[in-house]
Amino acid sequence: MKHLLKMLDLSTVEITEILDLADQLKYELKNGIQHKRLEGKTLGMIFQKSSTRTRVSFETGMYQLGGHPLFLSSKDLQIGRGEPVQDTARVLSRYVNGIMIRTFEQKEVDDLAQYGSVPIINGLTDFAHPCQVLADLMTIREFKNKLEGLKFCFIGDGNNMANSLTVGCLKMGMSVSLACPEGYYPPAEILDFAKTYGDKFELVNDPVAAAKNADVIYTDVWASMGQEGEAEKRKLAFKGYQVNDEVMAAAKPDAMVQHCLPAHREEEITEKVFEAHAAEIFEEAENRLHAQKAVMVLLMENK
Ligand code: CP
Ligand code: NVA
Repeated sequence: MKHLLKMLDLSTVEITEILDLADQLKYELKNGIQHKRLEGKTLGMIFQKSSTRTRVSFETGMYQLGGHPLFLSSKDLQIGRGEPVQDTARVLSRYVNGIMIRTFEQKEVDDLAQYGSVPIINGLTDFAHPCQVLADLMTIREFKNKLEGLKFCFIGDGNNMANSLTVGCLKMGMSVSLACPEGYYPPAEILDFAKTYGDKFELVNDPVAAAKNADVIYTDVWASMGQEGEAEKRKLAFKGYQVNDEVMAAAKPDAMVQHCLPAHREEEITEKVFEAHAAEIFEEAENRLHAQKAVMVLLMENK
C-alpha cells in the first residue's frame, strides 16, 4: 500500500492488515504501552471542508505516534487562491512525510498522489471516505467478532459513505443491501464493482426491505458537505429513508447501528434509535483514531 485514496484500491489482505494493526494499537494505548513509531515525521493535513473527528483523530494519532501533525486550512493555503494541486503536491512533498487531504473532487486526491512523492491519505471526498470505513469495519468486527457472512444495510444517499461501505463490506465477505431513493444511487463505478458480487449485493428503494435480517444498519446525512443548497429538495427526496423502530424491527434482534456522524436526529435517524445504540456509534467514532494510526504506521514508518 503506497497511499489510501479509496477502498477500491485495497485488497482484502490489506484491509485485514490495517484492522489487525488498529486493534493492536488500540490495545497498546489502553494499556499504557508507548509506541513512537513515527518519531520525527510530519503529516500535513489539508482541509477544504469542516471536520471534527477527522481533524482531531489524525492530529492526536500523529502526536501519540511521536510525529508532528500540521493543520493546513485551504482558507490559508495558496491552494485556496488557485495554486494548482499538482504544484502544492510537489512543494509539500519536500517538507512533510505524508499528506492527508479532505476535499471535494476525488481527482484532486488522485492528482496529489500522482504529483507528490509522499503517501497521500484521503480524509473524505465527495466520492469516498476510506478512513471512516476502516474504522467502521474495525467496530463491526469488535462487536460481532467477525465480518464474513454478516449482512450490512445502508439506508440513505448513494454518497461517499455508501460508496466506500459497499466496497469495503463486500471485500470483507459481507453481503450489502442499499436502500436509496431513485436519483440518489451510487455512481456506476461502484454499482459495476458491486454487481460482480452477484446476489451478495442489492440496491432497493424500500428501507425496511433492505434492513430485513441485517446484522448492521448504517445511515448518513441526507445532505452532505457541499450540498447545503440542496437541503430542502433533499428533505423531500429522503423522507422515509430513516433508521427508526420499523427498520430496526426488520433487522436481526441483535443488530448494531453505525453512523459516521455528524447525525441529524429525526432526519436520517430517530433520537430513540440513536441513543439506544450510542455505545456502538461512539466506539465507531473512537476507532477513527486507532484505524488511522494503523494507516499512518503502514504508510509512513521506515519510509
Ligand atoms: N465522520 C467524519 O468524518 O467526521 P468529521 O466530518 O467530523 O471529520
Ligand atoms: N456524507 C457526509 C459524510 C460526513 C462524514 C459528508 O460528506 O458530508
